[in-house]
Parts: sequence; structure tokens; C-alpha cells
Amino acid sequence: MSLECRPISTEFAAELSGPDLAVPIDDATVDAIWSAIDRYAVVIFRDQRLTDAQLRDFAARFGPLEIGRSAARPGRRRLAIPQIGDISNLDEDNRVRMLDDRRRLDSLGNRLWHTDASYMPVPVVLGMLHAVTLPPPSAFGNGETEFADMRDAYDTLPEAMKQAIDGLIVQHDVFWSRAQIGFTEFPPGEREQYPPSPQRLVRVHQGSKRKTLYLSAHASHVVDWPVADGRLLLWDLTAHATQPRFVYSHTWRVGDVVIWDNRCTMHRGRPHDEQQARDLRRATTLDTASTLDQAA
Ligand code: OGA
Ligand code: MN
Repeated sequence: MSLECRPISTEFAAELSGPDLAVPIDDATVDAIWSAIDRYAVVIFRDQRLTDAQLRDFAARFGPLEIGRSAARPGRRRLAIPQIGDISNLDEDNRVRMLDDRRRLDSLGNRLWHTDASYMPVPVVLGMLHAVTLPPPSAFGNGETEFADMRDAYDTLPEAMKQAIDGLIVQHDVFWSRAQIGFTEFPPGEREQYPPSPQRLVRVHQGSKRKTLYLSAHASHVVDWPVADGRLLLWDLTAHATQPRFVYSHTWRVGDVVIWDNRCTMHRGRPHDEQQARDLRRATTLDTASTLDQAA
């Protein structure tokens, strides 16, 4: 199976075409997609129509799959497969959630620049989002997803700053990212289930061997620093890393599959009309070790 790769607008995003992701892909195609991800960090397939099972089976070719915080909760769920994350504003009966719905409010944390699951001791690698239903354009925005390349962000730091931050360890905490948007009402037991995790601030991205910043809205403070100093440094670095010149904004079309590497990018969702359905499905691959154990 041939894989065509067409770089788009920014240096780190590319459109891929060739394979039908609904049917099993061979090892050579998996390798070719990995090469594109290692080079570009964000890759886009258009016009795919995947069931949740097909998305899961495709994603599983790239590593073991995460069961996310929301799917791990007890109770009824809209989607049947726990490895498929429900990135939508719909409830268990496919109705648009009310504005004060807790799950909707919790998921609004995705509007802050972040990398997924950095609060887990062993975080994740690839995120794969498939667009099923999209809202029409609105005054609030169109529900785009923006991505920023943290290798470019690292490369463009002043040399003295690179040296000063090398070796720093940052505490990542999902309850901190939610606190920033004023959301604190978690189900009983969840705070105990997801304690904060320490992560390296500067990592070597295994796919490209380039140094990268590991930042996220979950990043709360620098270990062994006063909280205020660390938080202010993280805000400065995030402002640097998310300048428009480092950002690719993805305008969704139904059928898109967008894959990004959480180890070397941040992303955020953009606003849209909350009265309208927006339904994306996500599969996420797990890493094998803590960033503290990985050579950096
Ligand atoms: C995600 C995420 C943003 C969006 O699925 O991990 O952050 O635009 N999504 O839905
Ligand atoms: Mn995310």
C-alpha cells in the first residue's frame, strides 16, 4: 500500500493519503505512517468512515490503548468500547448536554493548551481523533483543534534558558488544569485515583531525536521550587510555545482522522456553538515508561 504525504501550511503537519483505515493495514503501512508522525508530529487522513471498532483496531497497530478518565468511571456510557474516548458534548442518549452538565464542564479543560494524560505516571504517545458529527460555524468559533510543535518551541528558546531548564521536573495534575477553568466537582474517589505525576520538562523526542518541551495545562509547578516561581515559568514557556508561528489550526471535516504525537506537541479545542452536536471519537496509545526513566 502506498502512502502519499503532502506537507500543509506549517512545518509540522502533513496530509496523508492512500490507505483505507477501516480495513487492516500491513506492517509496511504502519512503518510509513510512523515515519510521517516522527517527522511531522501531526498527520491528517481525510474521508475515512470508521466505526469505533475499526478506529480501535487501527489505533492498536501503533501500541497498547489507553482507557481514559471518563471511560474508567462507573455508570452508563454513550460509547460501548472503553478504549474509544468520547470527545463530544452528547449525553448517554445522544442529546446535547446542558450548559451546567458536569461532564461537559470537565471536558472544557480541553480548551486549554495541553498534552493528553501528562498527569499519569506513564503518559500517552499518539492521540487519534475521528470526526463523526460537526457543528455549523458560529459566532463563538467553529470547534477547530489547534496544535503546536514543542520541538520548534524548544529550538527557539535562548541558549541560556535551555541550560537553565534542563533537568527540571514538573508536577502534572489533572485537578490543576480543571481548577484553572473553575471546575472542581469531581465524582467521589477520582482525586485519589489520579494523583499528580512528576515529568521531565525537557525530553528527547524518541521519534526524531530532537529535544522537546513537555508542557501542559496539567503542569502545576516545578518540583523543589516555590509554587509561584514554577507556575510563572510554566506560563512564560507556554506563551512562547503557542505563538501563532508554531501553531497549526485544524478545520474539521466529517471523516477526518487526525493523529498527533503527545510527546512533542500541545493541542487545544476551540469554542463552538454549545447548542449544536460535536462528536469526535478518540483512541490513544500508551507509552512504556515514565519521562523520568527516559533518557533526556
Ligand atoms: C482531545 C482534545 C480537543 C478538541 O481529544 O484530546 O483535546 O478539539 N480535543 O476536541
Ligand atoms: Mn486533549
